[in-house]
Amino acid sequence: MAEPLKVLITGAAGQIAYSLMFQVGSGSVFGPNQPLKLVLLDILPMKSVLDGVLMEMMDCALPLVKEIVATVDETEAFTDVDVAMLVGAMPRREGMERKDLLAANVKIFKSQGAAMDKVSKKNIKVVVVGNPANTNALICSKYAPSIPKENFSCLTRLDQNRAQAQVAARVGVDTQNVGNTIIWGNHSSTQFPDVSHATVTKDGKVVSVYEAVKDDDWLKGDFIKTVQTRGGAVIKARKLSSAMSAAKATCDHIRDWWTGCAEGKWVSMGVISDGSYDIPKGLMYSFPVRTKPDHTYEIVQGLSISDFARAKMDATAKELQEELAAAMEVCEH
Ligand code: NAI
Repeated sequence: MAEPLKVLITGAAGQIAYSLMFQVGSGSVFGPNQPLKLVLLDILPMKSVLDGVLMEMMDCALPLVKEIVATVDETEAFTDVDVAMLVGAMPRREGMERKDLLAANVKIFKSQGAAMDKVSKKNIKVVVVGNPANTNALICSKYAPSIPKENFSCLTRLDQNRAQAQVAARVGVDTQNVGNTIIWGNHSSTQFPDVSHATVTKDGKVVSVYEAVKDDDWLKGDFIKTVQTRGGAVIKARKLSSAMSAAKATCDHIRDWWTGCAEGKWVSMGVISDGSYDIPKGLMYSFPVRTKPDHTYEIVQGLSISDFARAKMDATAKELQEELAAAMEVCEH
């Protein structure tokens, strides 16, 4: 058997992590032959809850899990980590402005980036889930200068899954028959769910989503709005934010990054912009990427961009630039 991979899950006493760690431990991310050392990090006030979660993870008696460590110490948690799933963040409380949340959370990711820089493996792969996910991921990478920027990502796979599920339901096919949807930009309501290059397989034939749906107004209107505001709709209905679906999407994101995506397919990930599609270099922006079995990826090139898409891609980039400026101000003062 292979050497165990050291996988860190932060926010381990929270609701996403509660679904996430079982899926990771059961082998559905790194495969059935990859042993794991799980590290669970939360903060001191949550220590007792964390201890309870640790007991439950032990009681799952998962054969691939060789060791589980639960800790509230950042340095201990980040030491020699191969893969980090950074879920832990402060939730938005009633009356809290977006900028207050951003200020609280970017400090967490500044501190975790610095810890990672000192003690994690240099080839660590990082996915940031905690919001604002794109900006947190960028701040984390800025404070971990010894780790390649390409190793940092943020989760927009939940948005991709939501888009895929909406189209599948509309057309009446299984979700795996909808391919190559794209999420551009920020994991926020300015994101652009784009189906202009997506396909539907129906009755053995592959057709464009536009051809399958036959309702351009829906695709350019309510479909986009539904995906952009889905997180809020779940909170309204459940009184809690998306957790099961966020955990599943985190697993999809890391599994595809780890093992590569199928020939001709791509997935959406927030990654560092290299200037592709005229998105400002250095932003953490969600692109369609082709992941490879050596745990690298490349941004899919050469997709045609309509004027409709261009305006939406630029609007979400602008929001990310503003968020970054606000985050840097917090970090530097
Ligand atoms: P939760 O509030 O249930 O759990 C968050 C946990 O993080 C808490 O146990 C808290 O103590 C912990 N935490 C806070 N600061 C920490 C630190 N410095 N180190 C380690 N742990 C820390 O929240 P939930 O529902 O699990 O969501 C977590 C985050 O994921 C939130 O920021 C949420 O907005 C975000 N989210 C992102 C999605 C995406 O698609 N990118 C989708 C859904 C949620």
